[in-house]
Amino acid sequence: MANILCIGAGYVGGPTMAVIAQKCPQHRVVVVDINEVRIAAWQSDHLPIYEPGLDDMVRAIRNKNLFFSTEVDRHIAEADFIFVSVNTPTKTFGQGAGKAADLQYWEKTARQILRNSTTPKIVVEKSTLPVRTAEAMEHILNSNSDGLYFDVVSNPEFLAEGTAVRDMENPDRVLIGARDTPSGQRAMQAIVDIYSQWVPRERIITTNLWSSELSKLAANAFLAQRISSINAISALCEKTGANVNEVAHAIGMDSRIGPRFLNASVGFGGSCFKKDILNLVYLCEYYGLSEVADYWEQVVKMNEYQEAHFVSNMLSAMFNTVAGKRITLFGVAFKANTSDTRESPALAVCRALLEERAEIVITDSHALDNARADLGADARRVTFEPDPYAAAAGAYAIALLTEWSYFSELDYQAIYKSMVKPAFVFDGRNILDHRSLFKMGFNVYAIGKPPLVHF
Ligand code: UDX
Ligand code: UDX
Repeated sequence: MANILCIGAGYVGGPTMAVIAQKCPQHRVVVVDINEVRIAAWQSDHLPIYEPGLDDMVRAIRNKNLFFSTEVDRHIAEADFIFVSVNTPTKTFGQGAGKAADLQYWEKTARQILRNSTTPKIVVEKSTLPVRTAEAMEHILNSNSDGLYFDVVSNPEFLAEGTAVRDMENPDRVLIGARDTPSGQRAMQAIVDIYSQWVPRERIITTNLWSSELSKLAANAFLAQRISSINAISALCEKTGANVNEVAHAIGMDSRIGPRFLNASVGFGGSCFKKDILNLVYLCEYYGLSEVADYWEQVVKMNEYQEAHFVSNMLSAMFNTVAGKRITLFGVAFKANTSDTRESPALAVCRALLEERAEIVITDSHALDNARADLGADARRVTFEPDPYAAAAGAYAIALLTEWSYFSELDYQAIYKSMVKPAFVFDGRNILDHRSLFKMGFNVYAIGKPPLVHF
C-alpha cells in the first residue's frame, strides 16, 4: 500500500485521482486543496465540476480509498507520492506578463512539501509547466539540511474535459519523464507501476524530464494549430462559396492528416490551449528564437480573429446594428459536456455583443454559474436562463456557441414562432441542420459555408 497525495482538486486533480484510486484499490489516494468550498463540494452530492461518469465513480470509492481534505500539511507528511496539479495561470505582471506561466503557486507548494516532510518523496508534476521547471523544483526541494532527497518526475496530463474519465481509463499514451540517475529511474519505475495497473505497458512512454515537459506544450500547440488552420480555411470558404465541412472531410481522408480535430468553429477555448501556446511563445523568445515564437503566436491570433469575425458576421447580417436587440447564446461552456467556461469563445462573443449594446440571454445546461462568475460586472447586463425555449422567446437571433448535443434536438419550429422576424441563427459549431432551419424561415449563417438567407 502506498499513500498517494494530489495537491490541487481541480479539473485535472479530481478526475485523475478518482481514476487512480479506482484502478489501484490497494493504494490510499488523498486529494487536498486550499479552497475549502471546493473540498466541501467534492465531499458532497454536488461535485464542483461536471464531467460525464465522474459522479458515479467518486460515489463508489469516496471514503474507501479516495479522500478529499483541506489538511494539506498533514497529508504531505504522510505521503509517498505527491502529484501536484495546482493551477499555473499566465503571468499578469512583471517579466513575461501576458505570456509566461505564473509559477508562484507551484513554488509555494514545493516549499510547503519541504516544510512538512520527514521522509523522502517522489513529487510528480501534473500541472503543465515551462520546460526545465522540474529542475528548479528539485533545487528548492533538495535545498534542505535534513538529508532528505526528493525526486521530481514529469507526468503531463493529456485528458480532455468532457471525456476526462474515458481518457484516463483508456489513454492514447501515458508520458513519464525523469532524470537519468539511479534514483530518477527508480522514481520513474514507481510511477510506471501505478499506471501499469490498467494501462498496457507499450502505451507508457518514458523520456528525459525536459522532453516530457516540452511534449505537453507541443501536443496542445499542435492540436490548437489544427483548429486555427481549419478556421483560417473557413473564412476563405465563406468568401468563395466552398463548404468547410466538405473541405475538412476531403483533407481528413488523407491518412497522413487524419479526420479528427478538424471541426471549424467560433474558436477554441479552455484553460490550456491559449495558456500553453503563450508559454511556448515565451520560451522561444527567451531563447532568442523570434521566428519560432511568431509562428506559434499566430495560432492564438487566428483564434482571436475567429471570435471577432463571428461577431462581425452577426452584425453585418443583422443590418449593422444589434443595439437593444435580444440575442440568445446557445451554450457558454468552452466545449460540450463540461461546466467549464475558462477562455470560452462564448464569453468573448458575449462581451463583444454587450459592447454593441445588445440584450444578451445565455442558456446552457451546466455552465451558467461559471459564466456568471466569469462575466463579473458584465453579468448584471445578461439574463441567465436554463430553459432554451424561454431563452429564445422574443429574440432576434440565436448564436450557437457550444456543441451540446441537445441543441440539435430542440423543436426549432416552436422556437421560430416565438422569435422576432426576420429570425437569425448563427451556428458557431456547425451542428444544426441548416437547410431545414432555412425551410422553417430562419436566416442561417454557419461557419465556412454560404449563408442561407431569405432576402
Ligand atoms: C490546472 C491548470 O490549469 C493546468 O494547466 C495544469 O495542467 C493543471 O492544473 P485545473 O485542474 O483545470 O488545471 O485547474 P483548477 O481547476 O484551477 O484547479 C487547481 C486547484 O489547485 C484549485 O482548486 C486551487 O484551489 C488549488 N490550489 C492552487 C491549491 O490547492 N494550492 C495552491 O497553492 C494553489
Ligand atoms: C485539451 C487537450 O485536448 C488535452 O489533451 C489537454 O490535456 C488539455 O487541453 P481540453 O481543453 O479539455 O483539452 O478540450 P479539447 O477537446 O482539446 O477542446 C479545446 C477547444 O477546442 C474547445 O473549445 C473545443 O470546442 C475546440 N475544438 C476542438 C474545435 O473548435 N474544433 C475541433 O475540431 C476540436
